[in-house]
Amino acid sequence: MERETALKLVKEQLTEHRYQHTLGVMETAISLARRYGVDEKKAETAAIFHDYAKFRPKEEMKQIIIEQKFPLDLLEYNSELWHAPVGAFLTESEAGITDREILDAIRYHTSGRVGMTILEKIIYLADYIEPGRHFPGVDEVRDLAQQNLDAALIKSVQNTIIFLLKKNQTVYPDTFYTYNDLIKNRRID
Ligand SMILES: [Fe+2]
Ligand SMILES: [Fe+2]
Repeated sequence: MERETALKLVKEQLTEHRYQHTLGVMETAISLARRYGVDEKKAETAAIFHDYAKFRPKEEMKQIIIEQKFPLDLLEYNSELWHAPVGAFLTESEAGITDREILDAIRYHTSGRVGMTILEKIIYLADYIEPGRHFPGVDEVRDLAQQNLDAALIKSVQNTIIFLLKKNQTVYPDTFYTYNDLIKNRRID
């Protein structure tokens, strides 16, 4: 899909703030794709649609999770997680994107998963470090992302888990599984 067409579809679904975030994720994802030898067009499309479902009513997201037989344990955890798999579903059903790699990058951009592809890692990271993000530790991850994708991802997952723990919030099990998988298989040379 042409970039302008995709952006127009997404803009209608988002607040101006979230749309600007999406543009930041897109630029960052394209640059990481170039750096790590991944299809830039796929990175662009996944980035544009990654938050497509962000503002859908909770009830609609819940219904899609049940109907599409997505992992039902999602419903027991923070609803912030829901827009990722629901976004993958709506990106296919409403925007007509069928590329599995793109859809999976959208699906796992919040939780991560065991055995993430490079494209999935890039979208997860781009979401975390895009230029509009300002929080303690983000610059460290930005620097790492230029040197080693896995090291940057490990740091961002660690930060996310620590953030949730400090706020007395639950951590979705897949996030722990992602962390363990990255540590076991990291290539930091
Ligand atoms: Fe998101
Ligand atoms: Fe996002």
